[in-house]
Amino acid sequence: MAKLTNFSPLFLLLFLCARSSAAGNYNVLTFGAKPGSGDAAGAFLKAWSAACSSSAPSTIYVPTGNFLVSQARFDGPCRSPSIKFSIDGTLVAPSEYTGSSGASGHWIAFSNVDGVSISGGRLDGRGALLWACKSAGRSCPAGASSLTFTSSKNIAVDGLTSIDSKLFHIVILQCQNVRLRNVNIHASGSSPNTDGIHVQMSTDVDVVRANIRTGDDCISVGPGSAHLWIERVSCGPGHGISIGSLGRGQGLHEESVRNVTVKTVQFSGTQNGVRIKTWGSNIPGHVRQVVFQDVLMRNVQNPIIIDQNYCPENRGCPGHNSAIKIDQVQYLNIRGTSATPVAVKFDCSRRNPCSGIRLQGIKLSYQSRQAQSSCKFANGVASGLIAPPSCL
Ligand SMILES: *[C@@H]1O[C@H](CO)[C@@H](O)[C@H](O)[C@H]1NC(C)=O
Repeated sequence: MAKLTNFSPLFLLLFLCARSSAAGNYNVLTFGAKPGSGDAAGAFLKAWSAACSSSAPSTIYVPTGNFLVSQARFDGPCRSPSIKFSIDGTLVAPSEYTGSSGASGHWIAFSNVDGVSISGGRLDGRGALLWACKSAGRSCPAGASSLTFTSSKNIAVDGLTSIDSKLFHIVILQCQNVRLRNVNIHASGSSPNTDGIHVQMSTDVDVVRANIRTGDDCISVGPGSAHLWIERVSCGPGHGISIGSLGRGQGLHEESVRNVTVKTVQFSGTQNGVRIKTWGSNIPGHVRQVVFQDVLMRNVQNPIIIDQNYCPENRGCPGHNSAIKIDQVQYLNIRGTSATPVAVKFDCSRRNPCSGIRLQGIKLSYQSRQAQSSCKFANGVASGLIAPPSCL
């Protein structure tokens, strides 16, 4: 409480009123954040400490304005059963990428929290200088992802906008029960490594209504993910929605993904549509129970693709024989246009052929002509209208 002596009496009165009239409401201005001036990270962290240590449900309020935040780690566990960030303003990252905020991997990061939600708000990762460094082929740090949740559960994000991340926009790592709703993600189509949403080692994750335009995967699903629901997403520019890459780990554990539904999505001008990608390596694992349904493709280079021979620079893939087994993958009602002649490509593992692939209602064309499909070590069934004709 010693800090309060710095405040004017009026401010103190307002502060006390605000606290007593709505217990558990924490406005970052009260903690010293000033829009448009100075680093607000300290004020955000003080608001977090107050909310986190309260026994009541709490709200942290960020009013309109641009708040420069060098880096913020919101760590739990908290006493408060729920903490809501209600954000009307913009959090702005430093544009340089060499300091702690740029090199450390995370800009705004939550870990070990339960019951945290974010409503509204805009994150401006200011990645342009780092993208330029990477694009010039110089040696640059990887950069920081804009928003990360690690080892957390019961998380909700609704109405957030993320622009120009240095690395991934949103990362969900080792979490359970995460709802992402009405998320808007935007970075240049040529920005490197700016995946929209990356999910890894997490279960029960929903992404519903997202608009994603970025330079890498719109959504990427890494190893250890199960029970994912992705619905009403528009993607493009970007590299599509991808399960994988899997099988790049150290071989210490399986790299598996199961029960993923991707439904009512559209891709515009993307590199891939719906993709499953595994390294041609010895790491074992599986991908199973995946449904891609009601998908519209507009001018997509690889609308439907399984690539089990991924091996950039041909290093570390002896025999190119992926040990990851792909089983029970359904493609239902997938329509639109391919930007290349091969619209359906199943390049599976010789050692571990794909099984249980199901195609139903596929209508993909290439320049108003029939497109082609290509199968290697792929088994399954096709029913209903299938264009290009199935090669299963
Ligand atoms: C698959 O995941 C969904 C959530 O996306 C869940 O509702 C459903 O019960 C899961 N199915 C199985 C068989 O685990």
